[in-house]
This record gives sequence, structure tokens and C-alpha cells, in this order.
Amino acid sequence: MRIFITGSKGQLGRTLFHQTLTGDTLAGCDLPELDITDRQAIDAAIADFAPDVVIHCAVWSDVDGCARDPDKAYLVNGIATQNVALACAACNAAMVYVSTNEVFDGTATQPYREWDPVNPINPYAKSKVAGEWFARNLLTRFYIVRTAWLYTAGGRNFSTPSRIVQVADERGALKVVTDEVSNPTYALDLAAGIAALIQTGAYGIYHLTNAGYTSRYDYVREVLRLAGREHVPVEPISLDDFQRPSTPPRFAPLANTAAAALGITLRPWQEAVAEFLRAQ
Ligand SMILES: NC(=O)c1ccc[n+]([C@@H]2O[C@H](COP(=O)([O-])OP(=O)(O)OC[C@H]3O[C@@H](n4cnc5c(N)ncnc54)[C@H](OP(=O)(O)O)[C@@H]3O)[C@@H](O)[C@H]2O)c1
Repeated sequence: MRIFITGSKGQLGRTLFHQTLTGDTLAGCDLPELDITDRQAIDAAIADFAPDVVIHCAVWSDVDGCARDPDKAYLVNGIATQNVALACAACNAAMVYVSTNEVFDGTATQPYREWDPVNPINPYAKSKVAGEWFARNLLTRFYIVRTAWLYTAGGRNFSTPSRIVQVADERGALKVVTDEVSNPTYALDLAAGIAALIQTGAYGIYHLTNAGYTSRYDYVREVLRLAGREHVPVEPISLDDFQRPSTPPRFAPLANTAAAALGITLRPWQEAVAEFLRAQ
């Protein structure tokens, strides 16, 4: 397949590009060379490559930055997705739009299914819902793939196990919220799921995360246990104690129903974290 990857230097993009899709014919784009908010530039790049599929991973993923500057969030995550979708339509490529568990409001009591109504509660999530809207309304051949708490080697976010261990070693103690719940997801496993999905032609909305879910607090405790750092004290706190510009949904794990029906499932998050830490 000819596959074009936006955000090819990001966590998911570089995993797809350098580890998962190495048997395919690939092209990609990222900042600073190509800005997807420049409609003509992204249109020309996709048209020149004539892909079968575009996997749109580029995103302004700084959730607090999005809360401070919602217009920029809409531009990069919403309008630029319109640009990518129109470029796909022009050259008859299918599109994968990678989205987030944050499209849900977090008031559920069970993991969210693919068809549950979205209700974003922060500017990042609203901009990602805008991106979903463009993919589903401008194209018939789209896969919307929602995921959560993504990590990969070299990641700097607090979902990345090696980063958690580093911060624990630096500070000697951690405070972690108990009331944010979702699915930690290894980018390598998500990339394999996306690679399988794009072979199916079963266009639609999917939830792809490592199986199972946990609170941030229990996640950090398990990472520290696996890394031999059980002795590091972890103080449980609540989101109300940890004020930041963006408020995440509290209970927003995703349930994989649609991809599982196609035989595509990801292993339990604990197994993925253990393998990730072994490889560091
Ligand atoms: N990370 C998570 O925990 C998480 C959770 C749920 C869903 N997701 C979704 O998963 C997908 C991949 O996320 P990720 O963690 O791989 O993101 P990431 O590591 O932040 O990578 C995104 C890439 O896109 C680039 N980019 C930003 N603005 C751009 C623009 N205007 N033009 C071209 N490239 C641009 C970024 O460059 P700069 O670094 O220079 O800005 C970065 O290289 C996203 O759709 C995200 O919403 C992520």
C-alpha cells in the first residue's frame, strides 16, 4: 500500500513510519517542513504522492495549550483536518483520523462504546470532535480511531512509563490523581491495530487501546512496581487538588467493540507496560 502519514515525527507517526509499516511505500510530513494548516501545501504533498490511505496523526496535543488558545486548537486539530480530508477526497484516498477518549465527558459508569454520543468538556477535545466531524462528513472512506493515554519510547508525557520512573527518581515521591480513569496504550500496539484495520475496508468508528483500564494513580503504582520502585511513595490526590488549564474527563475508558468484531484486539495494558519497560 502507498501510505501518507501526517505528524510523522510524533509518538504514533514515528512508530507507524519506522517500526510498523516498513513493508509499505511511505511518505510523511511534520513541522517545520510542512504545516498542515497550509491547505495548498498539504493538498500538493498528498496529491503528489497519490496514497491509498492517509493516516492523519498530526495534532496539537498540548491540552493545556489548547485551553489557553482554543482558536489555535481549532485551526490545527479541526480546520487542518478539513484540509487533509479534502486532499484525500481529491485523490480518492481513504483516511484514518486518530482521535481521543477525551471526546467523551467522563460521566459514564461503563467504558464508552464507539456509538456513544460525544460531549467534549475542554478545548482540546472540542477541536478533536471538530476533526472527527470533517472526516465523517467530507469522506465516505474513513476510519476514526479513538485512543487514550498514548506512550512510546522517548515520550515526555506522564503516560510514558520511563518518564514516570524518571520523575519518581528525581523527586523521590509523587502525587497522582485517583479520579482520572482510562486505558494506557502503547503506540506500538496501536500502530499494529491501525495496520490491521486499514486492510479491512470496514470504514467507521473504532476504539483501539490496550485492553483494560485503570486510574492514573493505580497506573503509576503498577509502573513503579514493574520498574522495581515500589518504595517510592505515591500520594493519592484528586483532580480538584490538581488545577490546570485543561480539565480531563474523569471516567473515560474506551471499550473496543467494533474492531474486536473484525478480530482486532490489543493486549492488556499491564503486559504492554511490562514489555515497554523491559525494552528500555
Ligand atoms: N498522546 C496521547 O496521550 C493521546 C491520547 C489520545 C489520543 N491521541 C491522539 O493520537 C494522535 C497522535 O498523537 P501523538 O501522541 O502521536 O501526538 P504527538 O506526539 O504530539 O505528535 C504530533 C505531531 O504532529 C506535529 N504537528 C503539530 N502541528 C502540526 C502542523 N500544523 N502541521 C504538521 N504537523 C504538526 C507535531 O509537531 P510538534 O511536536 O513540532 O508540535 C508532532 O510531531 C493524535 O490524533 C492525538 O489526538 C493522543
